[in-house]
Amino acid sequence: MKDGKFLTLGIETSCDETAASVVADGRIVMSNVISSQIDIHTQYGGVVPEIASRKHLEKINDVIRKALDDAGVCPEETDLIGVTYGPGLVGALLIGVAAAKTMAYALDKPLVGVNHMHGHIAANYIEYPDLKPPFMSLVVSGGHTEIVNVTDYNKCEKLGGTRDDAAGEAFDKVARVIGLGYPGGPKIDKASKEGDKDAIHFKRVYLEDGSYDFSFSGLKTQALNYLNSERQAGREINVNDVAASFQEAVMEVISDKAVAAAKEYKRDKIVMAGGVASNSRLRELMEEKAAEEDIVILKPSPVLCTDNAAMIASSAYYAYQNGEESGLDLDAVPGLEF
Ligand code: KG4
Ligand code: ZN
Repeated sequence: MKDGKFLTLGIETSCDETAASVVADGRIVMSNVISSQIDIHTQYGGVVPEIASRKHLEKINDVIRKALDDAGVCPEETDLIGVTYGPGLVGALLIGVAAAKTMAYALDKPLVGVNHMHGHIAANYIEYPDLKPPFMSLVVSGGHTEIVNVTDYNKCEKLGGTRDDAAGEAFDKVARVIGLGYPGGPKIDKASKEGDKDAIHFKRVYLEDGSYDFSFSGLKTQALNYLNSERQAGREINVNDVAASFQEAVMEVISDKAVAAAKEYKRDKIVMAGGVASNSRLRELMEEKAAEEDIVILKPSPVLCTDNAAMIASSAYYAYQNGEESGLDLDAVPGLEF
């Protein structure tokens, strides 16, 4: 406690960002330190799990120390330690979990293991101080494309998700083959601004009527086939047009389904979450389609969309308020479900 505020230290190491943050009363960010490994993994065209774990181990102590220093808080003043325990890369998760358990034990503070996906949704509690469940949420990240009906803090029912590739994963793969490199999402977003979204027709896959599931692997194959046939025919590929057309096909389906879910469940808000939620075209389409239905779109600023520890601290705070606590036997669960 400091100045009457309940302080949560959040720790996040599920993929390629080593992050720590101090959040007051579950909503006020006092520090948000993110050490990204993107430069290292870029050389390999994607995240190399073994390298990710080693880098987390090198950085974790400095990142936690800096988060406390930036917040002007000493370790004893923290009230709760929250850490991502899944889903993610097992070796990467283990570093954060070990650090959190060590601090909780040494400082005699409560510990809460956080589901990374609940964390992404909680980023919105920071961005919008008055936001309270229930609401509909669209969670789109490197590993997930999900529509979830959020009924309470950290409580949700999954209405649908991807049957094959996640949206971010499809973006990363297509970006690699059109030569945009890693990470593909932000690069496709940028290239699309210079391209024509109607240049190539990529199929929109809606699956069965009323389904909130997604499938992007066919679209990804269609994009790869298009590139191969153009190259074989000796035609020059307009990277910006491919990026814009591909992005449109993915985002049109995602935004249609998210708005349809909010309508069916009579939710007046859709809360966007995850790295892909920072995509500018997805944000535009969501706004356009929701406005027609009197639904409000909430979207965190890009730094809170991609992996960070402030969202983990916020989620931990609400779990703890709800009586949840983890023991020192907390373990990483790489395939943790929503
Ligand atoms: O949520 P996140 O930081 O990590 C996971 O939990 O997966 O999401 C990372 C994903 C990557 O696939 C990245 O390419 C994608 O988010 N991404 C984007 C954008 N920014 C990040 N995808 C599309 N447009 C963007 N602007
Ligand atoms: Zn994430």
